[in-house]
Amino acid sequence: MGLLIPARPEQCTLSRIVSLITVGVVIVVCTYVTSSPAGGDAGKEEFFSIWHRRSSDFVPDDLEVALRGAAYANRTLILTMLNKAYSEEGGLLDLFLESLREGDGTEQLIDHVLFVAMDQQAFRRCRSLGGLKCYLLRPTDSADDLSSEQIYMSDGFIRMMWRRIRFLGDVLKHGYSFVFTDMDVMWLRNPFPKLDRGEGEDLLISADKFNGMPHDYAGNELNTGFFFVVSNDRTVALFDEWHAARQVSAGMKEQDVLNRMKRRGAFRRLRVGARVLDTARFSGFCQDSRDAAQVATVHANCCRTKRAKVADLKAVLRAAEGLNRTRMEIKWPAHSECVKSWL
Ligand SMILES: *[C@@H]1O[C@H](CO)[C@@H](O)[C@H](O)[C@H]1NC(C)=O
Ligand SMILES: *[C@@H]1O[C@H](CO)[C@@H](O)[C@H](O)[C@H]1NC(C)=O
Repeated sequence: MGLLIPARPEQCTLSRIVSLITVGVVIVVCTYVTSSPAGGDAGKEEFFSIWHRRSSDFVPDDLEVALRGAAYANRTLILTMLNKAYSEEGGLLDLFLESLREGDGTEQLIDHVLFVAMDQQAFRRCRSLGGLKCYLLRPTDSADDLSSEQIYMSDGFIRMMWRRIRFLGDVLKHGYSFVFTDMDVMWLRNPFPKLDRGEGEDLLISADKFNGMPHDYAGNELNTGFFFVVSNDRTVALFDEWHAARQVSAGMKEQDVLNRMKRRGAFRRLRVGARVLDTARFSGFCQDSRDAAQVATVHANCCRTKRAKVADLKAVLRAAEGLNRTRMEIKWPAHSECVKSWL
């Protein structure tokens, strides 16, 4: 796990001797031998993805199976992660689903969401709802119980965030692009039409507050609660570097680490094209969308506790009821519980 170029299978041992003379030819032969018929369908823009896809088709792991089950033919899917506290009845999972079921053009997206459970209880709840695609992320360390509510910036919160980054990096290595959404993001409209990569960007990411300049990723405080990332060698390198940086980032959450990497020029160095998503479309409690005609998602950011998020997001869903092409106005409720959650 974690290697960019997987070791070639055993059956090529003989060929390897020959390879002393014709290394290039043998690589081509092995690639064909280990490729499956399904390997040739999707986009071939990235050498890395093709290479990896062939080897993962050869031995599909359970993550590959889960990703394939949720993704569109273009190897794109929606990912969200939940633990026991988030999946309790009447909690964030239920609100998230409600938003998808009632949003404008969002119901059909549910089939393409992979719900990644970080503990058994969350996995069971996910499965019990029926019709959801659920994946259990096995703990790497049995002492690593992250099922309870992880209060903002607590130790458990930070560990959960890092585990998430490592997992998302694995997804990219499997050759899948995805929208990552926190579960405290309400989906009021299908965001895909608003996630165009006009300049071939690799990463489209939300911000707490938007300064009006989408390519000024340095000047906008990035929020990792909602982003779209394309799988390629640049983004794999970014996520590897991001996860590795936890070693020198004690007490920092992954979002702050990404913002620090960005300020130090990591995007430029790794040639990751990034664009900041406008809060008019990708709204949040830090800065409400001014444009109800465009708003796709609402994130309960700038909020400390789960209880406050649930209360204030419920109010958002009520305010957004019947939001569609004929209704273009919305009066956002005050996020009073979230404001109080800091006191
Ligand atoms: C992938 O395909 C789906 C369904 O056709 C489409 O809605 C979505 O925008 C596509 N995603 C990308 C990144 O092209
Ligand atoms: C759109 O919103 C209006 C106002 O809330 C509502 O009356 C109408 O039924 C909605 N239309 C659809 C197709 O949901």
